[in-house]
Amino acid sequence: MKLMRILPFARSLIDLAVKEGDIAVDATVGNGHDTLYLAERVGKKGHVFGFDIQSEAIENTAKRLQEHGMLEQVTLFQASHDKLIEKISAHYHGRITGAIFNLGYLPGGDKQIVTKPESTIRAIEQLLHILAPEGIIVLVVYHGHPEGAIERDALLEYVQTLDQKQAHVLRYEFINQINHPPFIIAIEKR
Ligand SMILES: C[S@@+](CC[C@H](N)C(=O)[O-])C[C@H]1O[C@@H](n2cnc3c(N)ncnc32)[C@H](O)[C@@H]1O
Repeated sequence: MKLMRILPFARSLIDLAVKEGDIAVDATVGNGHDTLYLAERVGKKGHVFGFDIQSEAIENTAKRLQEHGMLEQVTLFQASHDKLIEKISAHYHGRITGAIFNLGYLPGGDKQIVTKPESTIRAIEQLLHILAPEGIIVLVVYHGHPEGAIERDALLEYVQTLDQKQAHVLRYEFINQINHPPFIIAIEKR
């Protein structure tokens, strides 16, 4: 298949936005795959701020980063992503070039603990304040579980109201696949 699948497309958007030496955010670190990807991208001169509400996720991510020698350029917060504006020092505000959210539950973890539309939307609002111009927020939306469907609807309603003078909003989705495959919402700050 030549069309880019969802996860490679998410990474290609990150690649467009995040360069060596940049500041980036992983809003849902989970098992740390995206955190590691961002840490490799920004390198030793850049920095990644990662958020998750579960200690298990923070521990798994720290372990993965350590195994790859990437812990130094990452700060992990066991906190909700809707606290990011207060957790990330003002020194970095306006300098963040990319942020990623993988919504839903921790793979291999407690499926009852899921991202919630209210905090996801608050985090997006905060990011839009502190992103650099042309910074990109990538959301991978998993909507196969009941709460995921609610979050999808709330998010789509919210992002469609974003002023086009403030942001470009994209949806990337395969629309003929069964079982509610994930899709992408990308927001580029103008
Ligand atoms: C789909 S997983 C992320 C997977 C991750 N990108 C990876 O590479 O493994 C979603 C994560 O979001 C976390 N989460 C849920 N609510 C959150 C919140 N308000 N703030 C930050 N993280 C949250 C969950 O604990 C879970 O670990």
